[in-house]
Amino acid sequence: AIRSVVVGTGSALPANLVTNGDLEARVETSDAWIQQRTGIRQRYVAGEGETTVSLGETAARRALDAAGLQPADIDLIVLATATPDLTFPASAVQVQRRLGISHGFAFDLQAVCSGFVYALTTADLYLKSGMAKRALVIGAETFSRILDWSDRTTCVLFGDGAGAVVLEARNEADDGRGILVSSLRADGSHGDKLYVDGGPSSTGTVGHLRMEGREVFKHAVGMITDVVEDSFARLAITAEDVDWFVPHQANRRIIDASAKKLGIAAEKVVVTVGEHGNTSAASIPLALDVAVRDGRIREGDLVLLEAMGGGFTWGAVVLRW
Ligand code: ACO
Repeated sequence: AIRSVVVGTGSALPANLVTNGDLEARVETSDAWIQQRTGIRQRYVAGEGETTVSLGETAARRALDAAGLQPADIDLIVLATATPDLTFPASAVQVQRRLGISHGFAFDLQAVCSGFVYALTTADLYLKSGMAKRALVIGAETFSRILDWSDRTTCVLFGDGAGAVVLEARNEADDGRGILVSSLRADGSHGDKLYVDGGPSSTGTVGHLRMEGREVFKHAVGMITDVVEDSFARLAITAEDVDWFVPHQANRRIIDASAKKLGIAAEKVVVTVGEHGNTSAASIPLALDVAVRDGRIREGDLVLLEAMGGGFTWGAVVLRW
């Protein structure tokens, strides 16, 4: 059988750092309020010339470097985003063009904050089917461009960035590396709790992010823990077996409450929301790249990923690094 193994990670952040103090000048808010409710201290905001595609390209090149591979080695690109550069062509195909390759296939995947978990699962299935050998799985977002910067209840929460992994099809070996299980869920009946109020077919505009924060919070922990426990049950493992928990970075309180409910020790949780804010589909691969480069995540570690976001969509992936 074939297993999809992560062989390299990379990430990219815009140059412009925006602190909570900077936001105090834009809306009626305070550093203390933002930190206490969310754990966010700062976020990066894309400037001129920085887009989902440019950040995605940089993250992809860094992941290829880390893997010791060339763009020509890639035959599938799945890019998770809710903020593409253009309505079409897909940002994945624009990244493919910038990487200078024209073989294989590439497409975007839209599952908002769950995008990376969905994209990793999708790429895994293509590799397992034999349709592709090496995939770039990218999460890239510029949420700053869909925020209502006059709405303090949302504009303080999000940031821009990109992360990428190279996934390689390998014959299942004794080392047990690779993606072991995925659980994905969606329930569109929650669509009005977190959405963008525009789009090509409805308003002909891009629109702005709208969120009932308390409603999202209320559902988040239960949905996250359900899907993680489903993955644990299918693998016959427990929280004890997990070496690293890398959750979607929406909010420190959601992360802490989920880890606690799952019984995962705090020192096993990778938290980057303080530095990056909520970067939607980019948050997990950004956090993975941080924890790989600082030496925490190492070959052979059991890594748990989970995310929940607009839709609602949610999901979990367990992999042996
Ligand atoms: N600064 C200061 N005050 C604020 C701000 C702000 N930025 N935003 C809201 N407030 C005020 C509110 O107006 C309210 O004032 P009031 O009591 O006078 O009406 C007060 O603070 C409390 O507001 P709540 O919304 O009840 O605050 P809560 O404790 O719920 O925290 C938050 C709000 C942080 C948004 C929280 O609900 C949350 O984290 N929700 C989850 C949101 C999330 O993570 N979404 C993304 C997940 S999915 C994805 O990643 C796309």
